Amino acid sequence: MSERLSVIGTGYLGATHAAGMAELGHEVIGLDIDAEKIERLSRGEVPFYEPGLPELLRKHVDSGRLRFTTDVREVAEFADVHFIGVGTPQLKGGYGADMSYVDAAIESLAPLLTRPAIILGKSTVPVGTAARLAERVRELAPVGDEAQLGWNPEFLREGFAVEDTLRPDRLVLGVDPANPGRIEEVARRVYAQALARETPIVVTDLATAELVKVSANAFLATKISFINAVAEVCEATGADVKDLADAIGYDERIGRKFLGAGLGFGGGCLPKDIRAFMARAGELGVDEALTFLREVDNVNRRRRQHVVQMAERELGGKLADAKIAVLGAAFKPDSDDVRDSPALDVAGQLHLAGAHVRVHDPEGMANAAKVWPTLDFADSPEDAVRDADLIIVATEWKQFRALDPNVVGELVAHKRIIDGRNCLPAEEWIAAGWDYRGLGRHSA
Ligand code: UGA
Repeated sequence: MSERLSVIGTGYLGATHAAGMAELGHEVIGLDIDAEKIERLSRGEVPFYEPGLPELLRKHVDSGRLRFTTDVREVAEFADVHFIGVGTPQLKGGYGADMSYVDAAIESLAPLLTRPAIILGKSTVPVGTAARLAERVRELAPVGDEAQLGWNPEFLREGFAVEDTLRPDRLVLGVDPANPGRIEEVARRVYAQALARETPIVVTDLATAELVKVSANAFLATKISFINAVAEVCEATGADVKDLADAIGYDERIGRKFLGAGLGFGGGCLPKDIRAFMARAGELGVDEALTFLREVDNVNRRRRQHVVQMAERELGGKLADAKIAVLGAAFKPDSDDVRDSPALDVAGQLHLAGAHVRVHDPEGMANAAKVWPTLDFADSPEDAVRDADLIIVATEWKQFRALDPNVVGELVAHKRIIDGRNCLPAEEWIAAGWDYRGLGRHSA
């Protein structure tokens, strides 16, 4: 059955969710305060890189099932279910989450709700937010108790956002047990297709639903920092972290995923979510419960420093005037997102240390140039590596994994490479005469 939905906030999460819901057969209106973004989306243009999304967006802008607006009144009139997908970035000067966008969304929408409506929060928020907002909606909405708020966290990964939206591995729905209303019934209609495929759904209280999201990201961050901490020990002993991860990963209780040692995690979610989680635990008086996340963050930050130090060592202790090609700027492949990107951080640090750094990224260069306008960007990997004294692979794009060590060897001044993501076929590079260094590997 087709529902009339709105998605408030059309960034990575909201734009994908809006197009995904249209693909599932619903009628969708997307709202954002950024008029330029809305204009581009209305023309069927995605303002960021996400594989498969431009096709889906265009399909449903054309089919008429998906449209965009900057007018919240239009949204309140049109939709019966409102998803909140605005950002909750790290507060400037603090670890907590900036809730101003979520609050503004509720403050502008709720007073316009004159007929029964369901609001489903998707943004990642500090635990306790949903209960506060549910109360606020009841206060502000002319329809009173008939405006109900639940929490429905989102687990999509950039680069796989379309797939994760259309075929999620689980659904989580938080409702206030004392006041469940129609929220579950409506959510089950919206997600009818996924539920028909027997996608697991966990219906729980609001606080648990909020905590599920941050706990999932904290666990993933911990897994990555765990293997990176072990990589440090491997380097001190001559052991190999990739063999080690394969071996422990065969244990189903551990699993091989997210045991990729390298430059560590970045992006708009994992780093800020673990910090906001710590900040919230502090406010709740249980900060000791999460002090380990500080160490997870520290291990992660050390990776970037470590690669800069490796580069210095490779170059005989002198970074100034060395020519370094950094392959990668995005925080991960199949994304143009450079928020808290390890790759861009390394490039920037080398640049500040006086090296001539040339960066190439298949999709992330425009965003990278906004953060580091003084970096030198190259149009192709070949262009980036020409005459380089050292190459650093910092994001594991498939284009970089496929580079031919013999061809690249003809272009550089010195055959030295640091594989910051342990993603290259090491033996081939070594066989082609390269001084190859992985992270936490035999050749570190
Ligand atoms: C992450 C979660 O994976 C999603 O489930 C969640 O919905 C999303 O945050 C969010 O909160 O919105 P995402 O930030 O797109 O998704 O990226 P991930 O695939 O989780 O990668 C995060 C970082 O970890 C990247 O920098 C990646 O390079 C790094 N990573 C990942 C490793 O260093 N090693 C690994 O083994 C895996």
